[in-house]
Amino acid sequence: METVSLTEFQSKIRRVLISEEEIREAVKKAGAMIDAEYDGRPILLISILKGSFVFLADLCRAIHVPCELEFMVAKSYYQGTQSSGMVQIHMDARADLSGYHVIIVEDIVDTGRTLNDVTKLLSTRNPISLKVVTLLDKPDRRVVDFKADYSLFTIPDLFVIGYGLDCGEMYRNLPYIAEYAEDAE
Ligand code: IMP
Ligand code: MG
Repeated sequence: METVSLTEFQSKIRRVLISEEEIREAVKKAGAMIDAEYDGRPILLISILKGSFVFLADLCRAIHVPCELEFMVAKSYYQGTQSSGMVQIHMDARADLSGYHVIIVEDIVDTGRTLNDVTKLLSTRNPISLKVVTLLDKPDRRVVDFKADYSLFTIPDLFVIGYGLDCGEMYRNLPYIAEYAEDAE
């Protein structure tokens, strides 16, 4: 692991795009929406790691109806821009989702590949319903036709860090979403 100076680390944080306060308000709204939408049968939140761990931690505490949690590590494999239709699961959620309203919790929808494949896979496991909530959506970058059911923020085509999102595994612990400055010294 290379040494990174604090000055270099900080210089890559170009500007705050979404503040802690804005995130807090939007998460509260998303929790209230989930509370209102479901019929009392248990909700299973499936968090796609690692990026969504901070969002999941806040979202689950904004939900007041019965809910369980699962974690999944998934990567999609593509030949060029074509989906192989294969998603490689490095850590899986339970095999049988029957009896649950499943909500996939993701940090960001970028090309759409990961969630396109994960939703296809999980829908074969008999959930009562299957929805996707994402903290961020970057629609300009889409290569497969995928739309989340609920997206808290739509952002332009920028690389962002913080609140769970990383660049080279760093910056996940920033409490806000920032634009990453690739070219900063
Ligand atoms: P996909 O391209 O929609 O399959 O997204 C794959 C993954 O890329 C996301 O779950 C994120 O972990 C990561 N990703 C996409 N855009 C960004 C970004 O701006 N910052 C950090 N991670 C990103
Ligand atoms: Mg991710």
